[in-house]
Amino acid sequence: MSFVEKFEERKQKLKNHILTLSDLEPSDFTLLLDRAAELKARHKKGIMDRTLIGKSLGLIFNKPSTRTRISFEAAAIQLGATPIFISAADTQMSRNEPVADTARVLSRYLDGIAFRTFSQELIEDFAAASDIPIINALTDKFHPCQVLSDLLTVVEHKGGYEGLKIAWIGDGNNMAHSWINAAAALGFTLTLACPKGYHPDREVLAKAREKNSAISVTTDPMRAARDADVINTDVWASMGQEDEQAQRREAFQAYQVNALLMGVARKDAIVMHCLPAHRGEEITADVLEGPRSVVWDQAENKLHMHKTILDVLLKGNP
Ligand code: CP
Ligand code: NVA
Repeated sequence: MSFVEKFEERKQKLKNHILTLSDLEPSDFTLLLDRAAELKARHKKGIMDRTLIGKSLGLIFNKPSTRTRISFEAAAIQLGATPIFISAADTQMSRNEPVADTARVLSRYLDGIAFRTFSQELIEDFAAASDIPIINALTDKFHPCQVLSDLLTVVEHKGGYEGLKIAWIGDGNNMAHSWINAAAALGFTLTLACPKGYHPDREVLAKAREKNSAISVTTDPMRAARDADVINTDVWASMGQEDEQAQRREAFQAYQVNALLMGVARKDAIVMHCLPAHRGEEITADVLEGPRSVVWDQAENKLHMHKTILDVLLKGNP
């Protein structure tokens, strides 16, 4: 069977929405990563893949965004689709129109929606009432598309994810949860170092550990970083947690990715951060700007992965 046939066969199996990575099979990850690498290579050669001509992508955003919004918009345009940015505050959802009514109406206009909001339950309710693919562009609980594109960056720099030790330093937040789900499906070792009181969600962790016992949480950042191939971090206070900033700054003091921490990782370890970064808080400027940092590749790969997600989910969508 040719790559294209295998790709089409696997694509049929991918569920309509991407709401959390725990919905994806290992073969879905392979499908998305292979296709993203292919679309990226074609893009670099100047080949245009206009697979979504005439389609429309809605982007409903309840929180700020630089990378996710603009890379999804550029992805849609590059594939021939039209992005329509919808500030949630300007819709009737802000005046309590039921989520299910909004989803049913927008399903009649659009071919897919990338949705960034607070509540995971809300996006799941929205998807349940929708006839078109819904893509989670970040909720308080998960950031699945970010971790998909980050996996592409890991594959590019490490040749794959099998056998790797990936460390997470900092908050047990939406990014941590999506890394936990990815580790459950893909089997790599994931060690998270989080301060007491900021550990990942128990249920997310327990479900993932049923599939992969090499997922663990410690309060010791050095233990997580020791011999790691990948060191990953994120902001100490996520969007929506602005009121907790001072208290979090205190709790996370020891959870900084700096030269000392990098000293216990493998010599060829890479450093990842989904951005935006706060230099001097979760990561020092020298590490962020240093030779082991792959953060700009990460940011670029959001474009290629988002193109892939749109290509896979929206193509053939009636
Ligand atoms: N990494 C990420 O999701 O960035 P934005 O908030 O800018 O979209
Ligand atoms: N955890 C961060 C990720 C930003 C891309 C947040 O939710 O704000």
